Amino acid sequence: MKIAAGWTLRCIDCGAVFESDPPGYTCSRCSGLLEAVREGGALSRTDLFGKPGEGIWRFRALLPFDADVRPVSLDEGRTPLIRAVNISKTLGVRNLHVKNEGQNPTGSFKDRGMTVSVTRAMQAGVRVLICASTGNTSASMSAYAARAGVRAAIIVPSGKVAAGKMVQATAYGATIIRVDGSFDDALSMLLGTISGLPGFSGMNSVNPYRLEGQKTTAFEVYEQLGFSVPDYVVLPVGNAGNISAIWKGFKELRAFGITEKLPRMVGVQADGASPIASAFWRGSDVITPVQNPNTIASAIRIGRPASGKKALAALNESNGMVLTVTDEEITAARRLLSSKEGIFVEPASAAPIAALVEIGARLEKDAVVVCVATGNGLKDQETIEINIDGTPLVADRSGLTDLLERLATQSLVRA
Ligand code: F0G
Repeated sequence: MKIAAGWTLRCIDCGAVFESDPPGYTCSRCSGLLEAVREGGALSRTDLFGKPGEGIWRFRALLPFDADVRPVSLDEGRTPLIRAVNISKTLGVRNLHVKNEGQNPTGSFKDRGMTVSVTRAMQAGVRVLICASTGNTSASMSAYAARAGVRAAIIVPSGKVAAGKMVQATAYGATIIRVDGSFDDALSMLLGTISGLPGFSGMNSVNPYRLEGQKTTAFEVYEQLGFSVPDYVVLPVGNAGNISAIWKGFKELRAFGITEKLPRMVGVQADGASPIASAFWRGSDVITPVQNPNTIASAIRIGRPASGKKALAALNESNGMVLTVTDEEITAARRLLSSKEGIFVEPASAAPIAALVEIGARLEKDAVVVCVATGNGLKDQETIEINIDGTPLVADRSGLTDLLERLATQSLVRA
């Protein structure tokens, strides 16, 4: 199907240019990743900001769609940017902000991309949406498929996937398929099958339309900082689509004359699943897959990142870096963010805070730092230990009064 006027898809490897979507949304010459490119001149700030539109569709000036296209939207985006005043001292970062993507319709940043890729699939008359996923992509895709009135099939690894995400996919009516293997196995199986299946459309982030939606995080951060670009954007990296998308968003703000500055992108991976960190610190553009990726942060338990090449470009072009953190550091950072700031995230989303524990104090003193909290904590409840049986049980009002009096005198009620 023809791409919107003024836009093409370009292969990041061989440079081939497409005016229609190739099958499977990958380069039909070399199988490389595609990127949406807008031709044309500068935009003013008012061309992009302050426009009406459902969810991220208010940024239509930089989305590859003709003006008359009706989006499949759940009013995604417009998530809060919260100044993290309580933990900034601990982290040694004075000017720290958390972009709370867990407040999206299905509780993760994936909704920004899914509204765009699903809208595109509906234009093409697709009947089944399909993805491989560590959980959030499937929850999001299933919701947008329900909204669009088409079927959803999700392929998940046989290892542990956060139950909350499977509950979501089930509620939205998706068909769940398990692959005897990892996320990487699931994705490569899907990509090897999908292009031969008429009526199906793949919704993983190799689909360049996904990244077009996800780049709007950059636009919102810029807007919420009072039309100012942060110094650092810190985010978890798994399949590597999001870091590529957010970097593209900031680059477009500059390319079309809205800003001059660019942020430095800081990716964070789990120790046991860090193929991009290894390549980056080796100074190599070849990513060696991690065979058995392992981390408590199941969302980023990925050893063969599909968008690894785009992510390395984002890291190098932005003069950024990629750090690794342990599961213990992730768990401690998750607790810090929820107990001190009231922001409850899933394990992967705490990785940036864990990284700042390490490097926060070494950044420039007045650096403006934005951490992207990618997913809601309620999705991944089994990684938090609770002990309901061990909590006090009262039988009547006097028992309650007694207990509360004791709590007050023991100063157990935290200030
Ligand atoms: N944070 C969360 C909560 C995620 O769900 C993911 C990816 C990431 C970070 C990493 O983003 O892949 O763009 O580098 N989840 C995917 C999924 C892989 O299937 O839901 P990325």
